[in-house]
Amino acid sequence: MKMDTFEELNRKGFVEEKIDPTLDLFVEIEKLKKEKNAIVLAHYYQEPDIQDIADYIGDSLGLSQEAARTDAEVIVFAGVHFMAETAKILSPEKKVLLPDLKAGCSLADSCPPHLFKKFKEKYPDHVVITYVNCTAELKALSDIVCTSTNAVQIVESLPKDTKIIFGPDKNLGAWVAKKTGRDLVLWNGACMVHEIFSREKITKLKARHPNAKFIAHPECEEAVLEMADYIGSTTGLLKYSTNSDAQEFIVATESGIIHQMEKANPTKTFIPAPPNNNCACNDCPYMKRNTLEKLYLCLKNGSPEVTVPADIIVQARKPIERMLEISAALGL
Ligand code: 13P
Ligand code: SF4
Repeated sequence: MKMDTFEELNRKGFVEEKIDPTLDLFVEIEKLKKEKNAIVLAHYYQEPDIQDIADYIGDSLGLSQEAARTDAEVIVFAGVHFMAETAKILSPEKKVLLPDLKAGCSLADSCPPHLFKKFKEKYPDHVVITYVNCTAELKALSDIVCTSTNAVQIVESLPKDTKIIFGPDKNLGAWVAKKTGRDLVLWNGACMVHEIFSREKITKLKARHPNAKFIAHPECEEAVLEMADYIGSTTGLLKYSTNSDAQEFIVATESGIIHQMEKANPTKTFIPAPPNNNCACNDCPYMKRNTLEKLYLCLKNGSPEVTVPADIIVQARKPIERMLEISAALGL
């Protein structure tokens, strides 16, 4: 077996570099952004320091729209691998950096492209809609991509009699099927963070906070979604909690979003929904692999870089662009 060279390991971000502890990383990152004509895009699930240094914070749809529109030469993607891949597919001429290449996604992992290809072959007359939380190879096997913000509208944009495969998230798929009244063929994938919430503990928490609104991401299981006052993407949850007159919210999604909820609503209280054991399982272990230190180093060194094979870029770009066109037409 061929061993990686030192340069190769460094490019992948496996070489640990010490940082001078006296450095103010917020100042250094700002300097590097200017020097390198770089932009930092961060998902709401990133740690608060990263959200505060970001040029743009958003949900999966907003982040891909921003990646398509930026004229920066370098995109530092503070999120997970599939998000950085999507940015690379939309802007292949740009350098896309991910602070930690091991920032993967349990949902993307739950749908290996070679198995999905076989699954798809069983339904040759079906249109394939894939949730953006999947690999670039899977997107290349799809007709349209969607996010949790636009999944319902993307399904509804197709004629009523269209046969549809929806993957990889079975919970989002079941919710979309219910909302649209369509019969979707679902892939059996799920996110480990959103499947951990306990209906029983949420019931007890609601009883202790009778005026709190319970809000949930559609990646949660049906039994949890049934209890929700509002279901939506991370941006949807943030908007709902800001526009609502309620003063307390129980939030069933990754806890990182609470940083923006508290910033936008300093007088309101946000309670993370409890998982079914005592772990901190509503912290996504992949999202939280990125740290301010790793972000500084990747900007300074220009690595680790996310690359996508040229043929996959060509095939995966079409379904993503289709999603962006439908979303733009609907003002999403
Ligand atoms: P959105 O931010 O698009 O709601 O997605 C949530 C998520 O699970 C991202 O990994
Ligand atoms: Fe993937 Fe779930 Fe983490 Fe989102 S929260 S990146 S879907 S594992």
